[in-house]
Amino acid sequence: MMVDLQAMIRERYSVRLYREAPIADDLQAALLHKLDGLRRGPLGSAMRFDLAAATKEDRAALRGLGTYGFIRNPAGFIIGAVEAGGHAMEDFGYLMEAAILEATALGLGTCWLGGSFTQSSFAEKIGKRDGEIIPAVVAIGYAAPEARAKDLLRRGARADTRLPWEKLFFDGSFRQPLTRSVQAGAYAQALEMVRLGPSASNKQPWRILKDGRRWHFYCQRTSGYGKGSWYFNLLRLADLQRLDVGIAMCHFALTAQQMDQRGEWTVSEPDLETPDDQTFYVVTWDSEGIEGSADDKQTA
Ligand SMILES: Cc1cc2nc3c(=O)[nH]c(=O)nc-3n(C[C@H](O)[C@H](O)[C@H](O)COP(=O)(O)O)c2cc1C
Repeated sequence: MMVDLQAMIRERYSVRLYREAPIADDLQAALLHKLDGLRRGPLGSAMRFDLAAATKEDRAALRGLGTYGFIRNPAGFIIGAVEAGGHAMEDFGYLMEAAILEATALGLGTCWLGGSFTQSSFAEKIGKRDGEIIPAVVAIGYAAPEARAKDLLRRGARADTRLPWEKLFFDGSFRQPLTRSVQAGAYAQALEMVRLGPSASNKQPWRILKDGRRWHFYCQRTSGYGKGSWYFNLLRLADLQRLDVGIAMCHFALTAQQMDQRGEWTVSEPDLETPDDQTFYVVTWDSEGIEGSADDKQTA
């Protein structure tokens, strides 16, 4: 288990400029060991991950990605392949984000890459099998000092680049925002960690509705996505937003577990009204224990 998960969630940012250096052997070995343990997503999809060094061709291809995704000098990539179907996207988002937090704990910088990338070269690197998909890859390496300096300036403002609580978290119905300290109890920190997570184009499509001791996760598709928008079509945003929900699940469950809050994931849509037809149900965290008994001292 990670030393200080919440610190790692706060520490992580999308590193787009790396130092020209390969990852030290001992760090590679440590990360590979962690990747090896990531075999099955919380909703059951089988998965495997590997670490690949970036070739000259990869770097040239990355330069061609344009304004969104200008990634320079990554030492390599975390590549993952997941069995298609079911909740493959959410499972992949969950475990890849867990891998990213492990890399962060090792002092490495990362950036999710879901935009158009050369699928075939990554498929080749991981030896993609029939029935598997590669929904995204992650650039990895040592953050260049300039990147870190720039992020430190932005760091204080990071929370401001995220949607406020009342737009994301709800209590009983989507008409009732969940206030931070009182109703959220011990889960306030888990929700805050969801809020700080990365998402495709920083759209933060996750919405969470508290229903007694159950926490229902929804995805609110970014409006504007669809026929007319070449930009979002190009980025496959609809698919990527299911990865985002997996990332939210990861931050939520790992934080809850670290605070000794137990629960399990179930897929069983509640009979609740959604705010619009862009919002769809994904999954529920069913927490054990009696509602309201959560130790509020943790939410200070
Ligand atoms: C599924 C997914 C796909 C992403 N794809 C790209 C990408 O192709 N290029 C890029 O530069 N950033 C990409 N990002 C990074 C987001 O833009 C970034 O997480 C978000 O703007 C928040 O910034 P932060 O990660 O620095 O906190 C992606 C993030 C996620 C979660």
